[in-house]
Formats: sequence, C-alpha cells, structure tokens
Amino acid sequence: MVKAIIAPSILAGDFAELGCECHKMFKSGSDWVHIDVMDGHFVPNITLGPPVIQSLRKAVPRGGADGKSASFFDCHMMVANPEQWVPEIAKAGGDQYTFHYEATKDPLALVKLIKSHGMKAACAIKPGTSVDVLYPLAEHLDMALVMTVEPGFGGQKFMASMMPKVADLRAKYPNMNIQVDGGLGADTIPAAAEAGANVIVAGTSVFKATDPAEMIQFLRDRVNN
Ligand code: DX5
Ligand code: ZN
Repeated sequence: MVKAIIAPSILAGDFAELGCECHKMFKSGSDWVHIDVMDGHFVPNITLGPPVIQSLRKAVPRGGADGKSASFFDCHMMVANPEQWVPEIAKAGGDQYTFHYEATKDPLALVKLIKSHGMKAACAIKPGTSVDVLYPLAEHLDMALVMTVEPGFGGQKFMASMMPKVADLRAKYPNMNIQVDGGLGADTIPAAAEAGANVIVAGTSVFKATDPAEMIQFLRDRVNN
C-alpha cells in the first residue's frame, strides 16, 4: 500500500515571502512542496523559474535546518519545451521534474534526460488527455500526475470526472506514486483517495486554512485510512 505524500503548492502562498512559506509548510508537516513553473506558452500564466528555485533551495537546504528533515522540491513544469529546462532545474535544486505529456515529442527520452541529471521523473496529463498514454511510460516513471483542473491557475474547481483515470492507473500499478493536482481540499479528498491517489497537491486549501498543519494532517489521514 502506497503512503500519503502531501505537497502544498506554493502558488497559493505569498510570493514576496516564498522562502518563509516553504519553511512554514515543512514545519507544518508537509512531505514535499509543489513548485508550479509556468511559462506563458504551455499555459496562459507566468510564475517563476530556475533562479527563484535556486534561491528557495538556499533558504530551505536539503537535509533541513535541523540536519534531519528532508525538503523535497516537486517541480511541476508547465512549459512548452520541457527538455530545455532540465539542466537548470537540476542545478537550481529540484528533486523531481514533472513534465507534461502534451509538451514533448519523445517522453521516454525526456525521462532519461531527467534521470541523468539526478532528479526523479514524472509525467503529467491534462484533463483532455487519455490515461492510456501513460502506460508505455509507467515503468520508467517515479510518479504520474493526473491533473484535476486545467493547468494554469490555482483556486479552480476539482474535476471529479478525472477519477476514473486515477482508478485505472492504480489498478494496474499498486505501488506507483499517483499525484492529483487542482482543487484538492477537505471536500474533494475522499474522491481522490478512494480512486487511489496518494500524492496530494493542495494550494488554496492548505495555505488559506486557519491551521495549515491540521489540514495537512487531515489530507494525509484521509489517504492513509
Ligand atoms: C495549477 C497548478 C496547481 C495549483 C493547485 O495549474 O498546477 O498546482 O497550484 O492549486 P489549488 O490547490 O488551489 O487548486
Ligand atoms: Zn501543479
């Protein structure tokens, strides 16, 4: 049985305080932080890129301030040319590189490129993309991401209609990390957990919670139980 991994999306944080926001999330018990990189081409929004990730890595070093805690940077690359940014994201301190299936001509070559730069490799599919495209790739992936909103913006409504994709993947790959991203919170986590998702991205619901630590724990318990 795969374990819950909770990955707050810093897109919902205060961009003037990103380092503090990351610290806050790790202190609140998050497993990863989810970093949404958008280029204004693949999606109609621009967020941040390698220089910001590099600064965040300095603020939140691997091994953590206490020398024990991990600080895993889950980089969701919503970019038109995912091959281009692999070396820079690796150098900046990314731990996992999630590219979009729709953005590349040769997903398997990209997976190999990502791994050769020492990062974990993951592949995302947009709501309109069939889950079938992931099957030839699955054995090479560290994670699959089933988008539950159209990528580009935080705070959108969770698409429950994506859950059959998650259930299909889970049935075929009992031990795979399956991530869902978009609109996850207290109301929508039951559907995602039942379908078999274990890696939960949550922006708005965690950052806007009165007690982020409590929300992180709530999401985790709902996946693990
Ligand atoms: C959307 C991003 C998501 C987003 C999730 O394109 O990939 O990571 O930040 O935010 P919420 O949880 O607010 O839907
Ligand atoms: Zn994302």
